[in-house]
Amino acid sequence: MQADTVDEVNSIYVDFLGKSGKLTKELKNLKKIPEDRRPEVGRLANEIKSTIEEVIRDKKQELKKGEGKKRVEKLDITRPGIKPNLGSLHLVTHAVREISQIFEGIGFSRVAYPEVEWDWYAFEALNFPEDHPARDEWETFFIDTEPDKKLGPMILTPHTSSGQVREMLNIVKSSSGKQIAPIRMLNLAKCYRRQSDVSHTEMFHQFEGLVVDEGITISHLKGVLEHFVKSYFGKDRKARIRPYQFQFTEPSFEVDLSCGICNGRGCRLCKEGWLEMGGAGMVHPNVLRAGKIDPERYTGFAFGWGVERVLMMKEGLNLPDLRLIYSNRIEFLKQF
Ligand code: DAH
Repeated sequence: MQADTVDEVNSIYVDFLGKSGKLTKELKNLKKIPEDRRPEVGRLANEIKSTIEEVIRDKKQELKKGEGKKRVEKLDITRPGIKPNLGSLHLVTHAVREISQIFEGIGFSRVAYPEVEWDWYAFEALNFPEDHPARDEWETFFIDTEPDKKLGPMILTPHTSSGQVREMLNIVKSSSGKQIAPIRMLNLAKCYRRQSDVSHTEMFHQFEGLVVDEGITISHLKGVLEHFVKSYFGKDRKARIRPYQFQFTEPSFEVDLSCGICNGRGCRLCKEGWLEMGGAGMVHPNVLRAGKIDPERYTGFAFGWGVERVLMMKEGLNLPDLRLIYSNRIEFLKQF
């Protein structure tokens, strides 16, 4: 029989000498033994009882001393401590900061406009006629509330372009009557669309650039694109614009980034040598008018890209499911 703790010893004691212990039962049965043998058996039983009691008492003492010692040993102050887990910035936060710095470095100012927006700023003022089929591409979330008479339904902003006309109206309001201050806006913000699958999250980030002044041309847009691409992706990378269609720009472009592996020549990975990055264009006169800016005198360019998208492109990440970014899975986030 083996006992390593005081509790175990106690339970052995109960086993033999408790109320219904093995030896206690034997002692109770003494009566049944023939009278002539009873004194002898009784003496033997009592001897066994006191031996057990003695052994148990000794063992308990020994264990109590040992346990005391063990407790002291546990307090080993030389043992290395447990390192607390260190947190770090989320990969999207890193990208947001880096992108903002690049544009702030060439004179853009970060602005913040509402995430809960009116239809008018997101679509109407951006030259989307009501019921225009292009609106379907934006998969908009509607807020369950009375539409405003002038501004229409309340929505979650589906793109950062809704900041364009807000910025124009703000600048016009704060400028002197004769001339408006040049606009160099960076609207980097959360956007929402009703689309959730391996390549879409319902909440994502875009960064929108808007420049309006006298004499702004496509070359200015190209210069800014080149600057961003070289600063963010590396100095060997190039930007290319290709005709496209957006309601709020004319002409409109899709911006491509030269492939980092073949440098625009075309390889197995990119096929054509270029990777699609996002939209851009010269601000449509109707959009300038909605912002109370005279399109005869001022021109501007705009661009709008996805933060998560450029981040994936930069890191060469090919996630099986984009939703991982916002899943709070520590094993995933720890890698960044
Ligand atoms: N708002 C567009 C979207 O969400 C992207 C975009 C395209 C923004 C062209 C622009 C632009 O400023 O000029 O798909």
